[in-house]
Amino acid sequence: MDIYLDTAMIEEIKQAADMGMCDGVTTNPTLAARANKPYVENIKEICRVVKGPVSAEVIASDKEGMVKQARMLSSIAKNVVVKIPMTSEGLKAVRALKEEGIRTNVTLVFTPSQALLAAKAGAFIVSPFVGRLDDISSDGMELVEEIREIYDNYGFETKLLVASIRHPMHVVSSALIGADIATMPFNVLMKLTEHPLTDKGIKRFNDDWQKLPENFRPF
Ligand code: G3P
Repeated sequence: MDIYLDTAMIEEIKQAADMGMCDGVTTNPTLAARANKPYVENIKEICRVVKGPVSAEVIASDKEGMVKQARMLSSIAKNVVVKIPMTSEGLKAVRALKEEGIRTNVTLVFTPSQALLAAKAGAFIVSPFVGRLDDISSDGMELVEEIREIYDNYGFETKLLVASIRHPMHVVSSALIGADIATMPFNVLMKLTEHPLTDKGIKRFNDDWQKLPENFRPF
């Protein structure tokens, strides 16, 4: 499973890339506002650090507007994937952009039927938002299971990307279900590295090492 970072903060992206844990990046208008930098420059810089897909989102709501903004975004770098909201106009844009060779990520997906249509329209990536479903007492991971089954039934090539991840178990469940990609905030990536027994073990090894006479220790 590929691991993407869901952020527009270049410092977080550099740290994850240093660990080899940044196969791609997803951004959205909220994350762009949080980064608070000139947008095109920021995406350009992210694309210099990350060679995999970098999602940048349109804000138009009609097909023509989306296609126009998508062309502009995809001209920033060759690894830009354009995020298109899951609406009927969005599906038209996805279809037109596929014809032009522009890869799309259909975002704000909350039902299996939306995911089915996104794949049929030719989306490169589909993004179900699991955390936002959990927030309204629904089951985000159940949606991911259903999309996996539908895509496997018909051999759709659209990549299943789990978005709106809030905690490590969302990532583990994504991997067990067989999602293609999990995109997560930097703090969730960090939590995936941690365990109290790892910290306890390191401390015990360090303490015991000091018991070896100093002249016997190479460091
Ligand atoms: O980038 C889309 C998605 O991951 C947003 O997450 O936490 O705002 O629901 P969240």
